[in-house]
Amino acid sequence: MNKIIDGKTVRDIKKEELIKQILKLNKQLSLVVISVGDDEASKVYVSQKEKMAKSIGYNFINLHYEKIETEELVKKIKELNKDKSITGIIVQLPLPMYLDKEKIINSIDPLKDVDGLTNDNLVKLIKKKNCLIPCTPKGIMSLLEYYNVDLTKKIVIVGRSELVGLPLFHLLLAKNATVTLCHSKTLNLQSYTKKADILIVAVGKKWLITKNMVKKDAVLIDVGINRIGSKLYGDIEDTAIEKSSLMTPVPGGVGPMTVISLMENVYLAYLFQEKQLS
Ligand SMILES: NC(=O)c1ccc[n+]([C@@H]2O[C@H](COP(=O)([O-])OP(=O)(O)OC[C@H]3O[C@@H](n4cnc5c(N)ncnc54)[C@H](OP(=O)(O)O)[C@@H]3O)[C@@H](O)[C@H]2O)c1
Repeated sequence: MNKIIDGKTVRDIKKEELIKQILKLNKQLSLVVISVGDDEASKVYVSQKEKMAKSIGYNFINLHYEKIETEELVKKIKELNKDKSITGIIVQLPLPMYLDKEKIINSIDPLKDVDGLTNDNLVKLIKKKNCLIPCTPKGIMSLLEYYNVDLTKKIVIVGRSELVGLPLFHLLLAKNATVTLCHSKTLNLQSYTKKADILIVAVGKKWLITKNMVKKDAVLIDVGINRIGSKLYGDIEDTAIEKSSLMTPVPGGVGPMTVISLMENVYLAYLFQEKQLS
């Protein structure tokens, strides 16, 4: 039996659906990606977004700064907020340490916040209001739905970041799932992971979760991307697939879903701005 959760195939299906919706609009949507500094991984992520955005028919603009101050960047974002030709704005993370990340992210108009990272959108998500949802958790929810994973089972998330673990916790809760959220201060991590029917790991430490830390027949969602030399590794030991019922590979699992979810958010942002959604 094929145990691989194939993020690329689900992404392609989602892409086809999205293109059909966009063609009906008869309007070109625009995505702006702001990047600062010379982070090598960020360059790869920006180019992946550019490739996907263009293939869908979006106008893609990368505003890249070698160096810029917080106030100047906030001013630029406020200009983009007012610009009616711009549908979505994201700030590529991580930002250099000298910048005020919170201030910069929260200067994005929540209706254009296609990464779903402003405080406004996070509060709406927690309150179960219609909003733009962070792309990685959104992509994971799409994968779980596509593979008909039973959310009434015991779910454990490892990692509580505002980018992945925390919003995912709330998205699952909104589906009436029962979820345990673990983090770096969790004592005896394996006492939780070993009981999980669905284990989702978003930490950023190669093979933190070893094969003996997972339950037999568990569904394993590996969000981690750990670049060592030219190879990518997940947070879950790859041989854990033998014990699982389903598992996402790294790469090719959650990553492609993050990118397509961003593209879906650009379309949703347009609908919010046109007040076709509220
Ligand atoms: N595939 C994709 O599309 C995608 C998208 C986003 C991120 N990622 C990857 O996912 C990983 C996590 O990203 P992130 O932005 O969420 O990272 P992050 O902001 O650094 O958060 C990491 C989380 O892991 C927890 N943690 C750290 N060490 C731990 C340990 N030993 N045991 C249990 N929990 C531990 C931290 O706990 P504390 O809160 O207690 O510090 C924190 O909540 C990274 O590898 C990143 O590259 C992949």
